[in-house]
Amino acid sequence: MKSLIGAGAGFAAASAGACQRNATLDVELESTLGQPLTGASLNSAFADVGRAPTPQQYASSYNNFYEFGGSKNIWSSAQALPTDPWRLEVTGLVKKPATYDLDDLTQRFTLEERIYRFRCVEAWAMVVPWIGFPMKALMAAVEPTPAAKFVRFSSYYDPQVCPGPGLSLRNLPWPYTEGLTVAEMANDLAFFAVGVYGRTLPKQHGAPIRMVVPWKYGFKGAKSIVKIDFVAEQPATYWNTLAPNEYKFEANVEPEVPHPRWSQAKERLVGESTSLFTWEEQPTVIYNGYGEYVAGLYG
Ligand code: MTE
Repeated sequence: MKSLIGAGAGFAAASAGACQRNATLDVELESTLGQPLTGASLNSAFADVGRAPTPQQYASSYNNFYEFGGSKNIWSSAQALPTDPWRLEVTGLVKKPATYDLDDLTQRFTLEERIYRFRCVEAWAMVVPWIGFPMKALMAAVEPTPAAKFVRFSSYYDPQVCPGPGLSLRNLPWPYTEGLTVAEMANDLAFFAVGVYGRTLPKQHGAPIRMVVPWKYGFKGAKSIVKIDFVAEQPATYWNTLAPNEYKFEANVEPEVPHPRWSQAKERLVGESTSLFTWEEQPTVIYNGYGEYVAGLYG
C-alpha cells in the first residue's frame, strides 16, 4: 500500500469523482482540514489493513463529537473548538508529572503514520491514516508508579463553547472521559493522533490530540484531550456512565457480542451517499483484526 503522507492532495481528486456531492460543501470542508504535517514516515507494520483507506471527504464529514452536536454533521460546528494554545496535563500516579503544549509533544515524541481500521459501536467502519506517536512513549516519559492500574483521559469541555447534542433531558457527564488499563495503554497499538491524511488533525476529528485504540469501539477514542490521570481504580467514563449495559468499559470489538439494540456481526464501510444502507457491508472481525497484538491482554 502506498504511503499516504501528503494524502491531503488526494482529497481534490477523490472529490472530483464524487459527482453527487455538493461542491460548495467540499470547499468549506477542505478549509477545515488542517495544515500539512510532513516528516512522519509510514510504519510498515501498520500499512496494510486489507481494505482501502476511506476517502477523507467522507471520514472528515461523518463524525461523532457530542460536545458540538448530536448529528454526524458536526464538522462545521466543531470549528468553534479553540486549540491554540493547548495544554495537556499528565498527572496522578506518575513519577514525573508533566504539562505539554502541542510543540512539546510533536518535538519530543517521534511522529509516524499508521493506517488503522476504525470500528464505531454503531456498526460503521472506516480505514484511517493517522499521524501521531505510541502512547507507550508518553508513559515512558512520565513513569507511572506501580500503584497506577488505570488511566483516565479527559476531553476539552467549556459549556460556553460546547452546545452539546441538544434535546437531552438529562445532565450529561461532561467532560467526555475515557479510560484504559495501564497494560492497554502500554500496548503497541495504542496511539495518540495529532494528524490524519497527511495534515494536522481537523477539529472535527479531535484536534489537536486524540486517542486511537483500534481494537476497541470508536467511542473509546476520546478527542481533544486536555488531561491524562494515572489512577488506581477503574475510572468512570462518559458512555459507560450514561448507559453501562450498552457501552462497556472494555468495549473491545467482538462480533459475537451484540449491542443490546443491534448485532455487531457486520459493519458498513463509510462511503459516498447519504444513506449508510448503501455502504458496503463486511463481517466484523474479533478485536477489529488486531488479535495478534491484543488477545493476550484478555482472559
Ligand atoms: N470524544 C469526544 N470528546 N466526544 C465525543 O463525542 N465520540 C466518540 C469518539 N471520541 C466522541 C469522542 C465516538 S462515539 C466515536 S465513534 C469517535 O470519536 C468518532 O471519531 P471520528 O469522528 O474522528 O471518526
